Amino acid sequence: MCGIVGYIGRRDATPILFKGLRRLEYRGYDSFGVATVGSALEVYKKTGRISDNEAEVACLRGSTGIGHTRWASYGEPTVINAHPQTDCDERIAVVHNGVIENYNELKRQLQERGHIFRSETDTEVIAHLIEEHYEGDLLAAVNATLAYLQGSYAILVVMEDAQRIVAARNASPLVLGVGDSEFFAASDLMPLLDYTERVIYLEDGDVADITPNRLDIYHDGQRVERPIELINWRVEDARKGGFAHYMQKEIFEQPQSFYETIRAGIDEHTRRMIMDANEITLVACGTSYHTTLIFKYLIEPLCNVSVRAEMGSEFKYFTPPLNGLVIAVSQSGETTDTIAALSMAKAHNCPTLAITNVQGSTITRVADRTLLMRAGPEIGVAATKSYTAQLAALMQIINLRCDGAFDDVLSHAHLAIGDVLLYDVRDAATLCSKANHAFFVGRGPFYPVSMEGALKMKEISYVHAEGYAAGELKHGPFALLTPETPVVAICTPGPTYSVMVSNIKEIKARKAPVIAIGVDGDKELAEIVDVFIPIPNTHLLVQVLTTSVVLQLLAYHTACALQRDIDRPRNLAKSVTVE
Ligand code: AGP
Repeated sequence: MCGIVGYIGRRDATPILFKGLRRLEYRGYDSFGVATVGSALEVYKKTGRISDNEAEVACLRGSTGIGHTRWASYGEPTVINAHPQTDCDERIAVVHNGVIENYNELKRQLQERGHIFRSETDTEVIAHLIEEHYEGDLLAAVNATLAYLQGSYAILVVMEDAQRIVAARNASPLVLGVGDSEFFAASDLMPLLDYTERVIYLEDGDVADITPNRLDIYHDGQRVERPIELINWRVEDARKGGFAHYMQKEIFEQPQSFYETIRAGIDEHTRRMIMDANEITLVACGTSYHTTLIFKYLIEPLCNVSVRAEMGSEFKYFTPPLNGLVIAVSQSGETTDTIAALSMAKAHNCPTLAITNVQGSTITRVADRTLLMRAGPEIGVAATKSYTAQLAALMQIINLRCDGAFDDVLSHAHLAIGDVLLYDVRDAATLCSKANHAFFVGRGPFYPVSMEGALKMKEISYVHAEGYAAGELKHGPFALLTPETPVVAICTPGPTYSVMVSNIKEIKARKAPVIAIGVDGDKELAEIVDVFIPIPNTHLLVQVLTTSVVLQLLAYHTACALQRDIDRPRNLAKSVTVE
């Protein structure tokens, strides 16, 4: 998703802006640009990736500037459509995250009044509106412009001859970093980690007027104070640290992030909220949705509570009758569909809880309470450590509802995660890397674990993979089974073990190769499958974690074998801030 950065102070802005944009690369982008204000307004834009020496190549001057990575929405990924966008005279430059929904109408009106448009973007209308309202005061012109905009935006605006950045936010994240006689702005914390730990999260409707020595924030025309908060992430957490990919590093960080999330516990107010719930609805997207399904499978047989897991993207349009606690789960805390679902729950007067990894993210501002995961920054597009940290948070809720029955299991689970990290899954990965299609199957909580395994496989290796409830394959997908279609089956001890073994035999009878994940010493299973991956025989909650980690490794090694761009898979963004 698009990312924005800004700098104002005494230093040369360009290297800071490009370093910031590199820190935002993980969000996904297809073009980028920077504008600085020195003796003139200078703009530099390009398509493709930011190179190591981009700041030298750009050679812009000035200690005030804004930058942007664009993930094309309105208009192709071209230099013209890249941000910053400028007004007719190229005196005003704007970077923007979000969507201006009424831009067509605004563009038509502006064109009728003589404005010349260069790009196909919605953002360009903002630059022309500011131009139209400018009467010597940039802040006033931005304020007047905002009154016309419908939709979501986080914007930074600079103008020639002004050592000033005007920033505004509505339904798109924007955070300011506070330095000594310098300020930073960014769409998330990553670009700020190198420079400051003091941040200010702007609220929806805030407009900030920033000069090197002064920051004024306004809301509804009134000056307001926003607290300075301290970032709980370190810059080292955002580095690859000797690993080949961020994804690999993040897979290996899971024992720690799981343990830290368990150790942080749940505060008293949130505990009461959880204990009071007669019914729990969870909303989430993608990987986070899979953790909510796992939660449903695990908690319902254990505790007397009915649980619904809903996709954020469907929830807004097909809202079920709502009673009881609503929990929104999101690594980034910025996923538009999840936030929209959470807002609907609030509108129904439900108590709401956010489970997220990002302190100060939008979701934490919407929900009544927040349960913060302690995964640290996750940079790989594929969610790995945030997935197990979400499970840590959700398993604590199960433990709470079960009067601490799993205290011991949860406090040692990170050790079992550590045990499977060094597994050699290359035989299985070789099988998958030769396939065009694969199935992942399991029963009970291992069904959503399979869905997650398939999602990981397709998003980073581009091998088409589907997660299925094992019993469902024979209701249609069997038609697709061939010797070239591997099936990854999770088959651990428990009430569904023997039916899973039968399912695996049925799959084998259709000549599809089977990669099975079972427990250590399961000779029966090992003998009937093509590749057997043994995991330690542990508690069900722990098996959910260890099987998931094995599937992450399988996807990772398959993608490595296929030489994919693992941390930045094609067409994907880390944080999805559009519907
Ligand atoms: C999975 O690897 C993806 N990154 C994606 O499915 C992700 O989980 C989804 O977009 C939701 O993101 P969130 O947790 O930040 O809300």
